[in-house]
Amino acid sequence: MESVMQAAGKLMKVFVTRRIPQEGMKLLSAAGECEVSQWDSSEPVPRAELLKGVERADGLLCMLTDKIDAEVLDAAGPNLKVISTMSVGFDHLAVDEIKKRGIRVGYTPDVLTDATAELTVALLLATARRLPEGVEEVKNGGWSSWDPIWLCGYGLSGSTVGIIGLGRIGMAVAKRLMPFGVKRLLYSGRTAKPQAAELNGEFVPLDTLVPASDFIVLTCSLTPETQGLCDKAFFSKMKKTAVLINSSRGTVVNQDDLYEALSSGQIAAAGMDVTTPEPLPPNHPLLTLKNCVVLPHIGSATYATRGVMSVLTAQNLLAGLRGTEMPKELVL
Ligand code: NDP
Ligand code: DGY
Repeated sequence: MESVMQAAGKLMKVFVTRRIPQEGMKLLSAAGECEVSQWDSSEPVPRAELLKGVERADGLLCMLTDKIDAEVLDAAGPNLKVISTMSVGFDHLAVDEIKKRGIRVGYTPDVLTDATAELTVALLLATARRLPEGVEEVKNGGWSSWDPIWLCGYGLSGSTVGIIGLGRIGMAVAKRLMPFGVKRLLYSGRTAKPQAAELNGEFVPLDTLVPASDFIVLTCSLTPETQGLCDKAFFSKMKKTAVLINSSRGTVVNQDDLYEALSSGQIAAAGMDVTTPEPLPPNHPLLTLKNCVVLPHIGSATYATRGVMSVLTAQNLLAGLRGTEMPKELVL
């Protein structure tokens, strides 16, 4: 069937806000239906370039680093039909404004679940068993001999794991952690999850989960309710021996309170794949702490996953332009 774009005899205008894996770009050009302009850089598009780039666009392919708000939508104008983000998180999109304008949104759930869960487990183990400290000691000559009381950490065997936000990634993290000998799996969120039964997961209030857990893993989405969830009061209820892992969004954690909790020994350690801001400045106080492991938001960063994410993002965009069903549409 001849597409609407070809029938109209003119190409749809698309703005891509970043250099993305080739697979996705190839799909866009192979479709032959859109005139693509791109911020062809590994750095985020500056705001002024974003506002210029979206002018009269029919489609916008964006990243989680682009804040898509009323100003951007106004700059785009009435032609904008679809926003396709190369992420599962959509807290960078002003959903109410987008909905008001009848613009469709595509995103990338599922395809990054395994990679992100794997990274979350790696971060948990690295933090709890103090891997970055150990590597550093080997390099700087701090390793003098095998020592019965040196560089001890915390293990998963016999532990209680608490997952905040047992969604796609939370469940995949739980499945990977249980074989380490976890004794009890607790989870908190808005609704109980039937699939948790296969892991004997217990749906509990946050006030039960926090003091009972040896490991707390944040895999919730960022919402007004989860913003700043982990604050002074939260840390004061955690066990002194507990480890916090965050692979959701940086602002779920109050970092000033986290610094206090880590430096005063209120909690044992924290591993963060996400921070506020991103990048975290190299002189940030958290980076002076041995019991804080910070990664540069690499949860979904495997070659394969990023390739598949770019393809799905392009497919969602094309479907939005064509007015057909998207492989993964966000229901607004
Ligand atoms: P899902 O929507 O499947 O899971 C999100 C979970 O958050 C849901 O289970 C939801 O619970 C829960 N949640 C929402 N509100 C609250 C709340 N107030 N308290 C506790 N839990 C809550 O999304 P995904 O698992 O696919 O992704 C989750 C998030 O992970 C993304 O939004 C993104 O921010 C982040 N992410 C980070 C990556 C990284 O590189 N570090 C990679 C990919 C994603 P309920 O179902 O009951 O509403
Ligand atoms: C997402 O998709 O939301 C992640 O943060 C990056 O993959």
